[in-house]
Amino acid sequence: MEVYFYWTLMLLYLPKTMLYAQPCGPTINVSITEGGEASLHVNETDIIKVSWDVSNGTYENFFAKKQPGTSMNAIVDKYRGRVRENGNSSLLVSNLSLQDWGTYTAHVFSNTGVCQQSYDVRVYRSLSDENIEIEYNITSRESCNMTVTCRVEGPDTKLAWSSTAIGRAGVGEQVLYVYNAEPDLIYSCTAENPVSRAARSLTPWAHCLQDKSEKNYIVQNIIRFILSAFILICGSCVFARHLKREGARNG
Ligand SMILES: *[C@@H]1O[C@H](CO)[C@@H](O)[C@H](O)[C@H]1NC(C)=O
Ligand SMILES: *[C@@H]1O[C@H](CO)[C@@H](O)[C@H](O)[C@H]1NC(C)=O
Ligand SMILES: *[C@@H]1O[C@H](CO)[C@@H](O)[C@H](O)[C@H]1NC(C)=O
Ligand SMILES: *[C@@H]1O[C@H](CO)[C@@H](O)[C@H](O)[C@H]1NC(C)=O
Ligand SMILES: *[C@@H]1O[C@H](CO)[C@@H](O)[C@H](O)[C@H]1NC(C)=O
Ligand SMILES: *[C@@H]1O[C@H](CO)[C@@H](O)[C@H](O)[C@H]1NC(C)=O
Ligand SMILES: *[C@@H]1O[C@H](CO)[C@@H](O)[C@H](O)[C@H]1NC(C)=O
Repeated sequence: MEVYFYWTLMLLYLPKTMLYAQPCGPTINVSITEGGEASLHVNETDIIKVSWDVSNGTYENFFAKKQPGTSMNAIVDKYRGRVRENGNSSLLVSNLSLQDWGTYTAHVFSNTGVCQQSYDVRVYRSLSDENIEIEYNITSRESCNMTVTCRVEGPDTKLAWSSTAIGRAGVGEQVLYVYNAEPDLIYSCTAENPVSRAARSLTPWAHCLQDKSEKNYIVQNIIRFILSAFILICGSCVFARHLKREGARNG
């Protein structure tokens, strides 16, 4: 009881900046999918009270507290209805959004003293193939040479190209230089963040062909026209000769 009284006094009369205490342990990394739930575990015993703050680098905010005999309380609107206790003063924050990314700190007051535990909470969206943008510029239609870039928005995202025949292209980090692409050549760009992975593929030849086939279509039509004209003329010649011969036999 005496100890509890002491810490209550500390909280009431000490300015916030003087409450910085030694860490309870090293910072814990927590990676969560957007919409998910972060469990921030406090590994201390004989806890009297815990107050929680969050900092996004520019702005620090006390947002929840757990006092003796009460349940976990959100004291900031942004977290109302989204925090609850997970046993022993540990905190569950639910429905995380990308804006919840930040450093969360538990200020733990126990019978043995005060310490603070930090959590590096990173919130990532779950990647899908629609999040991957593939852009290309054809540098030569005949050889089917092109430069391709792959782009994905979002932090801590790794990109990698893979292919049915790697070695047929020079691979930059995101830029791919494709040359002499063949019909069965397919490139895939895989994007990966700590919570998800997605991929999108490109068949260079199909894109080179699109324009090639347009050209071919015109050429083919010209050939068709010449061929039909030729057949028509030949046919007429044969028919005319036949008529002449018939005429000669009759006359
Ligand atoms: C937490 O993440 C940081 C930065 O990504 C890394 O340097 C550190 O080793 C990680 N800590 C643990 C315990 O994994
Ligand atoms: C909790 O702390 C104890 C020692 O204080 C340590 O042995 C144990 O591994 C910790 N547990 C977790 C989950 O960090
Ligand atoms: C931190 O949060 C404040 C208030 O919510 C916001 O105005 C500011 O832009 C945020 N800063 C960063 C770096 O996210
Ligand atoms: C709370 O702590 C006690 C011992 O300190 C332990 O037996 C119990 O499993 C813990 N509960 C949770 C939910 O971590
Ligand atoms: C989760 O948060 C979003 C906004 O960030 C809100 O639109 C949605 O209703 C919330 N869902 C639940 C189940 O609270
Ligand atoms: C394609 O060309 C445009 C204009 O020259 C350039 O802005 C773009 O970055 C290029 N894209 C690729 C994939 O090389
Ligand atoms: C296509 O790329 C290859 C390899 O870089 C190069 O040798 C060839 O000349 C290129 N073709 C054209 C038409 O630019």
